[in-house]
Amino acid sequence: MSSCRGFGHLRPWVLLVAFTLLQCGSAQFCSFWNNGCIDPLAQTAVAFSFPPLFLDPITLFYSFDSSSSGKGEGPMTKTAFWLGYLDHNINPQVVDTNRTSEIALRVGNLTGTPTGPNNGCDGIWGGRCSHDIKTSLQATMFQLATSGDYYNQPLATALDQFMMTPPVLPSCGAPVFDVAAIPVQDFAYEQAPSQEVTVMKPGSSHHPWQVWYLDRMTDVQQASQVAVGIVSRSPSFDSHPPLSPDDIQIELVCLQAPKAHPQDPVLLRTTIEIDLVGPFFLDRPSVFFSSSRLDCRCRWL
Ligand SMILES: *[C@@H]1O[C@H](CO)[C@@H](O)[C@H](O)[C@H]1NC(C)=O
Ligand SMILES: *[C@@H]1O[C@H](CO)[C@@H](O)[C@H](O)[C@H]1NC(C)=O
Repeated sequence: MSSCRGFGHLRPWVLLVAFTLLQCGSAQFCSFWNNGCIDPLAQTAVAFSFPPLFLDPITLFYSFDSSSSGKGEGPMTKTAFWLGYLDHNINPQVVDTNRTSEIALRVGNLTGTPTGPNNGCDGIWGGRCSHDIKTSLQATMFQLATSGDYYNQPLATALDQFMMTPPVLPSCGAPVFDVAAIPVQDFAYEQAPSQEVTVMKPGSSHHPWQVWYLDRMTDVQQASQVAVGIVSRSPSFDSHPPLSPDDIQIELVCLQAPKAHPQDPVLLRTTIEIDLVGPFFLDRPSVFFSSSRLDCRCRWL
């Protein structure tokens, strides 16, 4: 443990809990080219609320690894995300039609520091841009749900459209959907009238939900990027069509690799997986860790 540093800024009770419940053991290696797991160079977790279906906050995990040589033609990074939640604390009473919940993550061509409302996104592009993004997604997904055209994942379908034909977002300075790929994962299905909810098993670095590679991106560059999570809950194809775009729920979550100090942007092998959301913790934490030079492997027991 003597090689673990960077905990100094955490409140003592967090430290106590962390050291009581974490075990530093031998690292399990996941190679850079294995897209079924990730051995993170940096990882951040942010909790956000997703009522009314999820009664407890959900945690978005964003993680990346890097290779300086890539495929032999320059650096590459490997990015992964997944959600953590208490899958028994879901509210079936709100299920009144068939709905699908999805999460997308976009990384690239966007820098800044997450702060403020909309889970940090307003600090990146301003509150009006967050509003524009949400309303344009709602309008597109509403149109899809009322068109009669078949679709499987409503958010993924809308994002595909946005990547082909960028939406007009008058309050956003830079193009928001100007990235090569926006991986999407569906994670909750609601069924009416039975009020059954099927949720994806929470992920981990051993079982990330989506993994993809960014060509010509270095670890330093990716650490300065803002990752934007887009979370939706929208009528499934076989449901009653929504009455208004407001029936489509969209949340934005902006996050970044943890930084110990602004002048110290690169993290060495920092793997922290702590879900502080749960029965022990009443506060909703945001970024849990900003530590660097942490070279032991810590896991929940
Ligand atoms: C950034 O934008 C450029 C130009 O549209 C695009 O070619 C590139 O793939 C984008 N970067 C990422 C990481 O998606
Ligand atoms: C919802 O899904 C169930 C099961 O797939 C199906 O039987 C039902 O007709 C669907 N429609 C509505 C409106 O909920």
